[in-house]
Amino acid sequence: MKVEFYGHVRQYRSVQAEIDAKMKEVLLSGQYVQGPMLKAFEKQAAAYFGSKHAVGVANGTDAIWLVLMALGIGPGDEVITHPNTFFATVEAIWIAGATAVLVDCDPATKCIDPALIEAAITERTRAVIPVHFYGQCADMPAIWEIAARRGLQVVEDDAQAIDARGDTFRPGERSAAVATSFIIQKNLGCFGDGGMVFTDRDDINATVRKLRNHGSDRRDHHSFGFNSRLDDLQAGVLSAKLNHIAAWSDRRIAIAARYTAGLKDVRAVTPPVVRKGYRHVFHLYVIETKDPAKRDALLNFLAERGVDAKTHYSIAIHKQEGFPWGKPVRIAGTVKNAERNAASCVSLPMYPELTDEEADYTIARVLEWDAANAG
Ligand SMILES: Cc1ncc(COP(=O)(O)O)c(C=O)c1O
Repeated sequence: MKVEFYGHVRQYRSVQAEIDAKMKEVLLSGQYVQGPMLKAFEKQAAAYFGSKHAVGVANGTDAIWLVLMALGIGPGDEVITHPNTFFATVEAIWIAGATAVLVDCDPATKCIDPALIEAAITERTRAVIPVHFYGQCADMPAIWEIAARRGLQVVEDDAQAIDARGDTFRPGERSAAVATSFIIQKNLGCFGDGGMVFTDRDDINATVRKLRNHGSDRRDHHSFGFNSRLDDLQAGVLSAKLNHIAAWSDRRIAIAARYTAGLKDVRAVTPPVVRKGYRHVFHLYVIETKDPAKRDALLNFLAERGVDAKTHYSIAIHKQEGFPWGKPVRIAGTVKNAERNAASCVSLPMYPELTDEEADYTIARVLEWDAANAG
């Protein structure tokens, strides 16, 4: 059996009529940039995710730095995040001109460890970017408490966790903004690049809207800005897909439960941890080899048997070649958990269209490897 890592075409086929109808509507409207479909999708997304405003932008990276810029965060300011996130989180801090401060992740969830944020704060610290990593929210109640006490802005990187939440909170509830990505492999993905800023703050909404459009909110009037708009064709695709996100998240959760039950007796790998009271939407189902030196052997074993597994991400940001390329950065304390995560992570195939048979085949191959390596 061959188990693919992505199910993009399967997903398109499953909702093709709805997507095609939306795309046709855009094409026949003649309005492809900042047109009615983008406005409608922004309204739909804001309502669905319980945010006052939603602003479509070109990608998830822009969503983060446009918010930092709207908050007036730039050179000389420090922004705290963790180094096992996708590269773009730190890149966005640098694009804004600020200093990235890297603290370690929690060893169980791989999200930022709130206990380490406080020790990393200096008089220059302006914001923290918790990443809802792999599809599970960071410990937001703890982060909001620290941020409120220490006067920090919170910008949530929700690129991997759209539709995730905690039983007692929703992303963005007490943050300046939530930034997300709609690149195709995300849980809500368009047919290319896209991103969105969710915010309850009128000032951030107004500023990001201007910044994404050459600093303009009226014809011929400009202040400094950029071109970072979500186009209407992508908005149409996303609008059709948003109607299915709850069911797709539920299916991801069911596949994850199947994986975890199947792997309950493993000894050479560790299945992912779900925090109690958190809706982990499993953008990725990531196991770790207990011995990091054996990680690549597991990947090869699976590949030889037709299971396409990947790593997210095998090189922590501060270990990238040439890091930090002259960019401002401070590593606060040791980041051993993040480094271990990078060395031992293996992402198994995970998408709503994955069949139970494919999941069971994948489980069986991991169990085979585990039995041979558990000694
Ligand atoms: C955690 C995280 N942050 C930011 C991004 C950046 O999003 P984009 O690729 O749309 O710029 C991604 C994904 O690509 C991501 O996984």
